[in-house]
Formats: sequence, C-alpha cells, structure tokens
Amino acid sequence: MPNTLLILPGDGIGPEVMAEVRRVIDWFGAKRGLDFDVSEDLVGGCAYDAHGAPLSDAAMEKAQAVDAVLLGAVGGPKWDNLDFKDKPERGLLRLRKEMDLFANLRPAQCFDALADFSSLKRDLVSGLDMMIVRELTSGVYFGEPRGVSKEGNERVGINTHRYTESEIARVARSAFELARKRQNRVCSMEKRNVMEAGILWHDVVQEVHDSEYPDVELTHMLADAGGMQIVRAPKQFDVILTDNLFGDMLSDVAAMLTGSLGMLPSASLGAPMENGRPKALYEPVHGSAPDIAGQGKANPIACILSFAMALRYSFDEGANADLLEGVVQKVLGDGVRTGDLMGPEGGTPVSTSEMGDAILAALDAA
Ligand code: NAI
Ligand code: MG
Repeated sequence: MPNTLLILPGDGIGPEVMAEVRRVIDWFGAKRGLDFDVSEDLVGGCAYDAHGAPLSDAAMEKAQAVDAVLLGAVGGPKWDNLDFKDKPERGLLRLRKEMDLFANLRPAQCFDALADFSSLKRDLVSGLDMMIVRELTSGVYFGEPRGVSKEGNERVGINTHRYTESEIARVARSAFELARKRQNRVCSMEKRNVMEAGILWHDVVQEVHDSEYPDVELTHMLADAGGMQIVRAPKQFDVILTDNLFGDMLSDVAAMLTGSLGMLPSASLGAPMENGRPKALYEPVHGSAPDIAGQGKANPIACILSFAMALRYSFDEGANADLLEGVVQKVLGDGVRTGDLMGPEGGTPVSTSEMGDAILAALDAA
C-alpha cells in the first residue's frame, strides 16, 4: 500500500523550501523504494487568490484522507488586510481544527555543527534531541467561563483551566506512542502542588501508562522545575508531555536551545485513523518570510526535517528518518550554510537549491 502524502506549499518561501523537500521525497522513492503517493494543493493567500478561501473544501477533504499532510508556510503582506475569515492563517487553523490535531510536537534538536548558535554552552546542547508534546485544543486557552467583567467597582479577568479525563488520556497516548519510536522515556509536567487540574493530569497520565504503556519509562515533574531543568541539563529529557499553557512556554524556551528558526520542524497529531496511523500535519515552525521570499535565500532544512518527522511518526520509517537527519548533520558539519546559519565569522552562503543539492549528494554518498 503506498504512503499517501498531501503537500501544501503555501505562500512566500513555502514553495521554495517545499521544492527541495520534493527532491528528497523523490530520492527516497528512487533509491530506497519508499512508495509515496504525493498530491499537491493550495493553502493560504495563494488559495484565497485562486478560490476565494484560504483552504478549499476539496483540499480539506484530501487532508482528511491522507496519511500525512506536509505544509510550507502561509501569509504575506499582500493578504494582511483581508477579512478575518479570509486570512491565510485561517487555512492552517481550519486544518488543525477539522483534523482535530490535539497533540503538538516540537522537537528541540541541536546538531553539533550549530551548537554555537544556542543560547546555552555547547556542551549542554550538542547532540540534544528532545521532544515536547503540548496539548493543543483544550486547557486555559479554551476553558469557560472566560472574559473581563465588573466585580463591584473593579474589572476582573477570568480564564478557566479545564481538562477532561479523555482530553488528558488521548494526548498522553500520543506521547507514549512517540516515546516508543525514540528513547522510550516520557516526563510529564504539571503543577499538581497548586492546581486540581494538575492532580488530575498527573493521575490520568499515570493510569494510561500503567494500563497501556508499562514498557515506557514515565517520570513526573512540576512544570516550573521542569523549565529550570530544560535550561540546566536539557539532555536528560526524551519526550516531555505537558498541557497547552505550560507547553506554549516550555517549547519556546526549548527552541532557544537550538540554532536558527530555519532549522525547526514541528508536527501536530490527532487520533489514530483506521490504518492505525495518527492524523498528522507536519510543518516548519517558521513563517513565509516575505523579507527573503523569491530570492533563493531560504533555508529548506526546517521543512526537510518536518518530512523526516513524517517518515518516523506517520510512515514507520525510523531508519530512513535517521538517515535523513544524519545527512543534514553531515552537510552542516561540512560547513554548508544558508544565510540564516552564518555566524559572526561570515562566509559565503549557499542558496536554497544549493542546500538541496548538498543534501541529495550526501544522501547518495551515505
Ligand atoms: P517568519 O518566520 O516568516 O520570519 C521571521 C524571520 O526569520 C525573517 O527575518 C525571515 O527571513 C527569517 N526566516 C524564517 N524562516 C526562514 C528560513 N527558512 N530560512 C531563512 N530565514 C528564515 O515570521 P514573520 O516575519 O513574523 O511572519 C511573516 C509571515 O509569515 C506573516 O504573514 C505571518 O503571518 C506568517 N507566519 C506564518 C506561519 C505559518 O505558516 N505557520 C508561522 C509564522 C508566521
Ligand atoms: Mg508561543
């Protein structure tokens, strides 16, 4: 059965970086016999220009049917003044919402060649490979009641941190499944010392572990202490599982442990489909970078590493994901750099397609 993949390059540098991913996908087809059935569609501003909506119903239907969606980036000044419902970002939000992608995966991976770009000392981060799994569709950003109201003669701002048992259990399962494809360790973070919802989070994660994933090593940490540990000794972690609010903060902190925005992949996962694979959307963390779009300057690595995540977590191709990540590391080690990866010592940057050339050559040589 072929692996089905929907590619949505989007706007700005999206199509430029995705062109390099297409070459990598073709390489795996030709040289490793990976059978990919790839289709392509529009998302974002370009979709609005073509169809009058940032994601057509036809594209949405395709996204629901495939094993994985790979998205470039959306947005740009051309569409900044559209109505809220037509904005490019709404295309991305529609995908996340209708696919019910409740687990957001943000890896913090630090390649040795880029360790000097980290906010931390080289020794602390070189070789770092951790993954934050953030619950994305519930918690304090969505809980009711919410709002600003009057109490007596002062205003009061209210948000509600609310999690149901099933919301916690499903994201916990995502984290345990991922851990099995990695170093088999999960650290769950909450604040059970001061929050009832934290107690429930802790208990449900432990129950799901004990009944379904006893083979995975599970530890618990208070989220504030966890933030400290991520900065003090990040290499102790494999998978970190946490809620929407703590995950928002901890994943931004962790991002600073790695190199450039042009290096950071991500994924959002939903419930398992009939074939057992989770609903999945993979995308670089960066946006459409209008300041460098159309100039061949964009770093395609974040998007290529997003495809590596798809290999590992959607297509069960862990060895090929290792190969691709290893090749990225090799190319960076050889000193091949796009402009965003230039240190203060300078040098000559390569173009987007030259970075692709280097990665394909290294794949051939591996
Ligand atoms: P951005 O991530 O597009 O760019 C921030 C800075 O990083 C820019 O200087 C850019 O040149 C640089 N950069 C980003 N990706 C790079 C890459 N692959 N290689 C080299 N340099 C890279 O964020 P910004 O400027 O805040 O937003 C630009 C547009 O992108 C906006 O329309 C925004 O709404 C949209 N956006 C879309 C996202 C998505 O599609 N998921 C996420 C963030 C922003
Ligand atoms: Mg944030």
